[in-house]
Amino acid sequence: EKGSYRHFMEKEIHEQPEVVARTLGAYVDQVENTIRARDGLDFSKASRLLIVGCGTAAYAGEVAEYWFERIARLPTEVDIASEFRYRDPAFLEGDVALFISQSGETADTLEAMRLCKAAGLITVALVNTAHSTMAREADIVAPTLAGPEIGVASTKAFSCQLAALACLAVRAGIERGHLDTASVTDHVAQLMAIPGTMSEALRADGQIDQLARDLSRSEIVLYLGRDQYFPMALEGALKLKEISYIHAEGYAAGELKHGPIALVEEGVSVIVLAPSDSLFAKTRSSIEQVRARGAHVLALTDEAGAEALEGLVQASILLPAARGAANLMSAAVAVQLIAYHVAVHKGTDVDQPRNLAKSVTVE
Ligand code: F6R
Repeated sequence: EKGSYRHFMEKEIHEQPEVVARTLGAYVDQVENTIRARDGLDFSKASRLLIVGCGTAAYAGEVAEYWFERIARLPTEVDIASEFRYRDPAFLEGDVALFISQSGETADTLEAMRLCKAAGLITVALVNTAHSTMAREADIVAPTLAGPEIGVASTKAFSCQLAALACLAVRAGIERGHLDTASVTDHVAQLMAIPGTMSEALRADGQIDQLARDLSRSEIVLYLGRDQYFPMALEGALKLKEISYIHAEGYAAGELKHGPIALVEEGVSVIVLAPSDSLFAKTRSSIEQVRARGAHVLALTDEAGAEALEGLVQASILLPAARGAANLMSAAVAVQLIAYHVAVHKGTDVDQPRNLAKSVTVE
């Protein structure tokens, strides 16, 4: 049931704080202030983490690569399932393979998992559907508790995947001896801040709705970000093209001069994920480069960032200033709201976009 919402996607965007809190509850032990161990999953001896998925699920994996490497010093590789399964991947002793899927039925992801199982790897399924094929066949199941996702474009399943992955990265950090008690406590506090931060981010809804009117007339939209915001830029672009049919591309901000800046001219919209973090100065310089070529720039940033970009960008969408995964996930809310409102302004079928199916069970 959609309740008072116009579309399932809108409802699912707005219920994220609640379902993410529920998902965190499956991983965080708030009494001991730590992340619970999962039966059979031991990162201490892992030599490498392989993460495989399709579409939005693969982007969640790409975000998590930054976390597993930074927090747990665990070498991580992320692959798109359709490429992974046909490229005869080389494995290492001690590889752990993690498969991300909302449905648990995506053909390519499932076959990639079977391939890893046959090669003797430990397989972990991060799935939203508890009775799915992947959940049945994996050695270990890591749940997301998003509840049924009806909108074809993934929103709440994605944020629950991110929440679970953030927890698993901290767990890996503990098991690999990279986090002392104080840092674990700090990480847990950051994780528990996610639902509240996402609720705050949802307050940008009205502002985004207003900005979406202009954006819906764009022919090309570029999304730029650095670090964990780079895969989020890819996800933002995917969401926009899926439901509004506007040609959107995500790029690492540092790649601008290596090609995509050739697209930039008067009338091109650029959405920049620009939190005021240690890379802000670099992101700001990317903004200057696209502004100098006439781009219309929207910055997704916090108060400090908005102040520093005043006069340089057409508008700043104000997001809360949080740390780590919480900050990233407020950007997730913003890119989802942008895609949603642009699509509504264009009058497309938000919940059932053309040519797309909710679950891709054939190649
Ligand atoms: C994007 C989207 C798709 C899915 C992809 C994987 O909004 O929904 O890209 O993320 O088809 O599906 P699952 O997670 O069910 O394996």
